Amino acid sequence: MWLTVAIFAVALLAFCLKYVFATSGSNPFEADTREPLKPMVHDRKEKNKVLKQGFLASKVPENLDAVIIGSGIGGLGLAGLLAKVGKKVLVLEQHDRAGGCCHTFTEKGFEFDVGIHYIGELLDHKPFRCIVDQLTNGQLQWEPLENPFDHVVIGPPENRRRYPIYSGRTRFPEELKKLFPGEEAAIDEYLRLVKKTTRGIWFMVLIKQCPAFLSELLVRTGVVKYLSAFFEMAPRSLTEVVNGLTENKDLRAVFCYIFGTYGAMPKEASFAMHSVLVNHYLNGAWYPKGGASEIAYHIIPIIEKAGGAVLVRAPVNRILFNDEREACGVSVVKGQEEVHIRAPIVISNAGIFNTYQKLLPKELQAMPAIQRQLSMMKHGLGGLSIFVGLNGTKEELGLKADNYWIFSENNLDELVTEYIEGDREESSKKIPLLFVASPSAKDPTWEERSPGKSTVSLVSFANYDWFEEWKDDKVTNRASDYKQLKQAFIDTALQVVLDVFPKITRDKVEYIDAGTPITNTHYIGTPKGEIYGADHGLERFTPELNASVRPQTPLKNLYLTGQDVFLCGFAGALAGALTCGSAILHRNLHLDAVALAKKTKFVNGKLKGV
Ligand SMILES: Cc1cc2nc3c(=O)[nH]c(=O)nc-3n(C[C@H](O)[C@H](O)[C@H](O)COP(=O)(O)OP(=O)(O)OC[C@H]3O[C@@H](n4cnc5c(N)ncnc54)[C@H](O)[C@@H]3O)c2cc1C
Ligand SMILES: *[C@@H]1O[C@H](CO)[C@@H](O)[C@H](O)[C@H]1NC(C)=O
Ligand SMILES: *[C@@H]1O[C@H](CO)[C@@H](O)[C@H](O)[C@H]1NC(C)=O
Repeated sequence: MWLTVAIFAVALLAFCLKYVFATSGSNPFEADTREPLKPMVHDRKEKNKVLKQGFLASKVPENLDAVIIGSGIGGLGLAGLLAKVGKKVLVLEQHDRAGGCCHTFTEKGFEFDVGIHYIGELLDHKPFRCIVDQLTNGQLQWEPLENPFDHVVIGPPENRRRYPIYSGRTRFPEELKKLFPGEEAAIDEYLRLVKKTTRGIWFMVLIKQCPAFLSELLVRTGVVKYLSAFFEMAPRSLTEVVNGLTENKDLRAVFCYIFGTYGAMPKEASFAMHSVLVNHYLNGAWYPKGGASEIAYHIIPIIEKAGGAVLVRAPVNRILFNDEREACGVSVVKGQEEVHIRAPIVISNAGIFNTYQKLLPKELQAMPAIQRQLSMMKHGLGGLSIFVGLNGTKEELGLKADNYWIFSENNLDELVTEYIEGDREESSKKIPLLFVASPSAKDPTWEERSPGKSTVSLVSFANYDWFEEWKDDKVTNRASDYKQLKQAFIDTALQVVLDVFPKITRDKVEYIDAGTPITNTHYIGTPKGEIYGADHGLERFTPELNASVRPQTPLKNLYLTGQDVFLCGFAGALAGALTCGSAILHRNLHLDAVALAKKTKFVNGKLKGV
């Protein structure tokens, strides 16, 4: 019996690999397109000429190869890949500037990022670095964070414990062992599990890329679980795994702290997702030099060079279909009118819920295949962001290029559940989890751009329902009770910052405001103010979901890209773009990127040797 299963599995795998290694279409990673560094542009007006090109029907290029809804890294990254093989692509963004979670905004002279604090895996020559370099022709530069890059702070003011987290495959465990003597075995086992689980992720690429019926077969027969540690560990919760490793409550919290980067509570988080994130930062963490707006700023010209365009203030209100139920374009709302744009391929970066529940005609929405996918996903947690503009340099304020994860105690599951499920007034008085970082301290161009000033960003979660009643108010003029509630969250969070950063004092605060889940809905188009798109809890990691939620949708010529197709985070959403590009171009772009990374490593290595 087992022999039959084994033979069957190998045969299936061989068949799948044929698709996974497919190399029929053109390769966007054919040649190294990096160019010598051009001087950076800081002038906002100049940058806006690229980032804020308003939609007009007359600006839509003719004979489009594809139209993409949404300009997050999932949309822009894919448009860049397609442009590199000569495709003419139009990207449509509802907000007034391109970038999605990578956009920036300026208030009272302070520039703030929305959703980029630190990104891992950007070591020279790594495939991920190669992808980003190629998509920006080598113009986007990365600034490493300090090491320690994260600080976990646990406990009330009178009993705060501080645990610096270091990157480095050997340094990470070594430093942890210094902080937790006697826990060496637990730390080694934790890291062993993380590495083993992450190694299995290639299988997810495979399962999303081989034909749907084969994926289903692999899933139904249970073969996947034997083939990949990823799926073996995926059904185990983070809490379950960590509690099995140690009795030390602070160490348990330190093992778990990074759940904040994907937003599922430890008891509901899949150990597989957690492993991917821990692994993501093991080789270090980086910040885009010049701020997050540099990302879109350097991708857009590549799209334009191929004849495409990135237009903003272009809310898509529906996807157009022909009589055969094939996607054939989109409709954009312009004033009182609809502008129809035709294209042979439509790709959505707007997330699975927006795409299926808002942009499809009712009868297509009702299709069982669509409903099945929707039933497998749920909305992720809402986000709360607080933006602080400070009078003072990073030296004066004691700010560094690192991040703080501040928890009111070590029982994370209980605290976060109580907070999120609690009454809004109560919850606004005690925020159990707060991410604090200074984008200005991470950016070496900041001093020149905003001398004598600094910024700090705070991030936490929030329940969409707390704010829903105000969702239809005008964004710049919401009711006073909304402002009051927001102020309560701001006051609580600021107090934590003042406690933990003694050099920051109230009189230094020149600007402070908060974005709630309904703010996210407005500016980044998330239906429930989600911070990381669809939920990343245990259900997200079943092989069943993996096999069926993929770039190809049940509707011909309609594709999905971005964080809901793969994983959240800059890297996760970009992996979604690569997976989608693979489906469209009929070749494995992940492998193409690996091949080019190897080639450039060789070339760079030789150059360095000279
Ligand atoms: C506060 C915060 C902090 C974060 N910190 C980090 C971090 O430090 N590191 C990291 O790697 N990741 C971080 N992330 C996550 C990361 O930014 C996202 O996972 C990723 O950028 C998502 O990319 P995306 O392309 O899938 O979606 P998005 O960037 O959300 O893009 C989707 C776009 O679609 C547009 N859109 C939606 N509907 C329509 C429509 N009908 N018509 C036209 N356009 C539409 C939206 O306006 C939006 O621009 C953070 C996120 C947040 C919110
Ligand atoms: C499927 O599981 C993989 C891990 O194998 C995970 O990284 C991926 O995000 C999952 N797919 C979706 C759509 O969530
Ligand atoms: C900023 O601080 C300096 C001295 O530290 C002070 O002279 C200046 O007035 C302050 N600016 C604002 C806008 O508060």
